Amino acid sequence: MTMMPRIPEPEKMTEEEEFFYAKADYSVPHEALAQEIIAKVGVAPKWAIDIGCGPGDVLLRLRKHAPNWTLVGADISAQMLSLARQDEAKRLSSLETPINWVLINGKQIAFPDATFDVIISNSVLHHVADPVHFWSVVRKLSKQGTDVFVRDLRRPATEAEARDIIERNIPEEYDVVKTHYFSSLLSAYTVSEVESQLREAQLFGLSVIEIEDRYLSIQGTIEKK
Ligand SMILES: C[S@@+](CC[C@H](N)C(=O)[O-])C[C@H]1O[C@@H](n2cnc3c(N)ncnc32)[C@H](O)[C@@H]1O
Repeated sequence: MTMMPRIPEPEKMTEEEEFFYAKADYSVPHEALAQEIIAKVGVAPKWAIDIGCGPGDVLLRLRKHAPNWTLVGADISAQMLSLARQDEAKRLSSLETPINWVLINGKQIAFPDATFDVIISNSVLHHVADPVHFWSVVRKLSKQGTDVFVRDLRRPATEAEARDIIERNIPEEYDVVKTHYFSSLLSAYTVSEVESQLREAQLFGLSVIEIEDRYLSIQGTIEKK
């Protein structure tokens, strides 16, 4: 079967999409991701960045498991970062170390090369118009041995398959969420597309793995050559 072409979504979500996204319950996958990161990396102090952190749920969960990590949440949306700050005020006590929320202006994230031991990005790649640039930022911010946890949707072969995925997995969601999910699936990359992005960005040590009926995981430990 021929794979349908990618139909890109805008990088930035609309305010309405951001609002509904922040209200939706992603506690199960986000908690699983936070626990998986700790299981792989341990709890000793690290520098970690979540690129495209959105309302910050993954980092707020990670803070509970890793009280001594330096956590950075970076996003192109000021509204998402404001929602993250509001949630942080509710969920973290004054004894817990705050998260550093950073607005990405333009293409670079303002940290020196090789700053981070852990790089996370969840549900962002399908928004990204220039994925090779995204991976080159990951390469720049990482060092030999940085652990990478990038998760995203993967594009189904047809629109009918995309509709089936939605009805199987989120039948009860608001229509605005379902409509956005459909366009996100059509905007997602395939395994072979991501593998070629990684080759082009000269990023080594990562594997691209299919998970369940709709996800990709790009994970591994960076090898600097
Ligand atoms: C679907 S949300 C995911 C938010 C969060 N990672 C999560 O798992 O809940 C996608 C986020 O990626 C951000 N985004 C899109 N393109 C980006 C880019 N090139 N760099 C950084 N963030 C980006 C959007 O502003 C939005 O907050």
